[in-house]
Amino acid sequence: MITHFAHLQLQTVSIQGIKHFYHELLRFPISYESEQEIHVQSTAHCTISFIETAEPIAPAHFAFEVPYSVFDEVVNWVEQKPILLLHWDDGRVIDQFKTGKNVYFRDVDGNLLEIIAHPYIPKDILTASGPLHILYLREVGFPVESVINFRENLVELLDFKLDKVSDLFTFAIGGTAHAVIPSTRRKWIPIAMVALPPAMHVTFGSSDVTFIDEVERRLQQKGISYQRKAKGDLHFKIDGYHLSVCLTTFPKEALGRLGLPFSIV
Ligand SMILES: [Fe+2]
Repeated sequence: MITHFAHLQLQTVSIQGIKHFYHELLRFPISYESEQEIHVQSTAHCTISFIETAEPIAPAHFAFEVPYSVFDEVVNWVEQKPILLLHWDDGRVIDQFKTGKNVYFRDVDGNLLEIIAHPYIPKDILTASGPLHILYLREVGFPVESVINFRENLVELLDFKLDKVSDLFTFAIGGTAHAVIPSTRRKWIPIAMVALPPAMHVTFGSSDVTFIDEVERRLQQKGISYQRKAKGDLHFKIDGYHLSVCLTTFPKEALGRLGLPFSIV
């Protein structure tokens, strides 16, 4: 099964700007840096990388899960930085919804970031990383023309489970990884931002090589072209999104203890 988002690769128009925002402001450690590329660690198990481009950028959306008990402290910490928390029409920045709470802000390329916390996630199962206390990268947004087609591919290829299913929106979930699938006709909240498909490469982690073998078999069956560079490195493309499954050491046994409603191992 898929355990988590292992790597999110995005484009940037300024490596220096990314370094300033993610490393100097948000304190993400840098794990690789060159003139054209920079990698930062959101957690030990999740890298976010940015490659310089001379093309216009379609902003991505992604969300970090933090322990519910430190959510307010984390938001206060972000508010001390020169970072603008986005607000809803009534002026509030924190949204308290049925299952948790969240805030949104944007990075230097306009990517829409979110910090989210749920009281049902125990705080001592995974190590919280950095001043943001990140447990894992919970969400990555995949705006698509057909929500139905994209979510069916994630279910059939990767055994994802679905939540909040509609023709315009769906969560597809594997382990801690929540693929947010909005229609390109539905805008992102809370600032009604047009959901353009970003140029990105998303790598899902799995701790099970036989699962990766099975995904390869399913890709063959569906006639989707793919590359497999090593036993645990499978790459394919769906609806313009580059996707990979890689073999990782993410603690699979922790998933059952996290109490995620759709990731029972
Ligand atoms: Fe989100």
